[in-house]
Amino acid sequence: MGNDKRRLIAGNWKMNGLLQDAIEFMDAFGGNPAPDHVEVGLMPPFTLLHSMSERLAKMGVTLGAQNVYNEDKGAFTGSICPMMLRDADCHYVILGHSERRSIIGESNAKIRSKMNATWLHGMEPILCIGETLEQREKGITNAVLAEQLAILKGAPKDKPLTVAYEPVWAIGTGVTASAQQVTETHAFVHEELTKLGHDCRVLYGGSVNPGNAAELMACPGVEGALVGGASLKAESFMEIVKATALVVS
Ligand code: 13P
Repeated sequence: MGNDKRRLIAGNWKMNGLLQDAIEFMDAFGGNPAPDHVEVGLMPPFTLLHSMSERLAKMGVTLGAQNVYNEDKGAFTGSICPMMLRDADCHYVILGHSERRSIIGESNAKIRSKMNATWLHGMEPILCIGETLEQREKGITNAVLAEQLAILKGAPKDKPLTVAYEPVWAIGTGVTASAQQVTETHAFVHEELTKLGHDCRVLYGGSVNPGNAAELMACPGVEGALVGGASLKAESFMEIVKATALVVS
């Protein structure tokens, strides 16, 4: 099992980052080891996993990938299987990100099969869920989240899992959910997870930056952040980690 309940600050680089960016990030991050009570994770693009894994491990940063394919090997041109991620020492795999749901058309069923593949190879999914602005305005946020979480029905309860609540309207927009919205929604997500038999961390994601991290990380039920844009530079990412460490110290 091993559901880590420390706060997790995870950087999702999305489709950003060349080798030189990775080197600069690690040079800048190097002198700032992660505080013991906050876990730091980084999900760079596939092309950087092998070149970053050793140095990140020495800095105490947990490596993850942004996606995986749900087959072990074979004729799946362009896909990356779980063993390839293990080979690069990945621990986390982001699944169900709204960009993959909306741009690639990834279904709940596909996400569940990727989750199974991730577990089968000893890694931890970070399952992303979130509503669009239209859904929030219609008052169906909780129904949407419950449907996305329902893929956990029948899933083994002893496997490591982290969930990330990322309101789609807050991703990359500079608009964050208010502390009240975050608190209410995280309470609902925890309730649903409990019903499904999963007691796991729930991260918040969507325009988290050094200026708002302390307030967001202090909301009850928020156990970390999935950070996009502000994770690309070590300085802003470190500030979010430090703000979180102060909240939980
Ligand atoms: P931003 O922090 O850039 O809004 O991205 C959030 C996100 O999608 C992380 O997975």
